[in-house]
Amino acid sequence: MRLPDMEMPTAPHRSMRMRYHDGSERLVYWTEREVPYPDGRLIVSRTDLDGVLTHANAAFVEISGYPREMLIGAPHSILRHPDMPREAFRQLWETVQAGGKWHGYVKNLRRDGAYYWVYATALPNIRDGRVVGYTSVRRKPSRARIEAVLPLYRQWLDAEAAGRPALPEAAA
Ligand SMILES: Cc1cc2nc3c(=O)[nH]c(=O)nc-3n(C[C@H](O)[C@H](O)[C@H](O)COP(=O)(O)O)c2cc1C
Repeated sequence: MRLPDMEMPTAPHRSMRMRYHDGSERLVYWTEREVPYPDGRLIVSRTDLDGVLTHANAAFVEISGYPREMLIGAPHSILRHPDMPREAFRQLWETVQAGGKWHGYVKNLRRDGAYYWVYATALPNIRDGRVVGYTSVRRKPSRARIEAVLPLYRQWLDAEAAGRPALPEAAA
């Protein structure tokens, strides 16, 4: 599914054509405004095997800025922020497709171009021994951990922009 272009924020912003793993593209806008993770809430979503949203809890809907009707049936990459390296999502998918549980820090893009950081756990939903979809539960991330992960994400992004493998080991 091709996501519609984002609406241009009124605040100062940057823009780019984002290309998704399925080859589709859309215009995204982003601003430097951070929206803090809501205290005491869990942000929960479920997807099908292709990463298409099948469930979003109230906290997810509220912080994303999209109405639920626009989220359900859309690819989870509707939240993908240009500052997030592909490598992080590659690892997420590799882990959950192998039946494992992935943890990581994710900077997500809101409908209005602002962003919010989460500490996410993603895992497969297994029914009758078969993976039928995936769930992600997010918590409030510590600022220190976000700061700690930024240099790694920057390194991965730079490698991706230069067309190099994100992980040096991958070149071996
Ligand atoms: C359970 C689950 C939760 C996910 N949560 C997010 C998320 O919060 N933000 C995000 O950008 N991608 C999330 N993804 C990854 C997206 O499916 C996608 O891989 C990513 O946004 C990169 O987009 P692309 O693969 O189309 O390039 C999640 C995937 C799964 C399976």
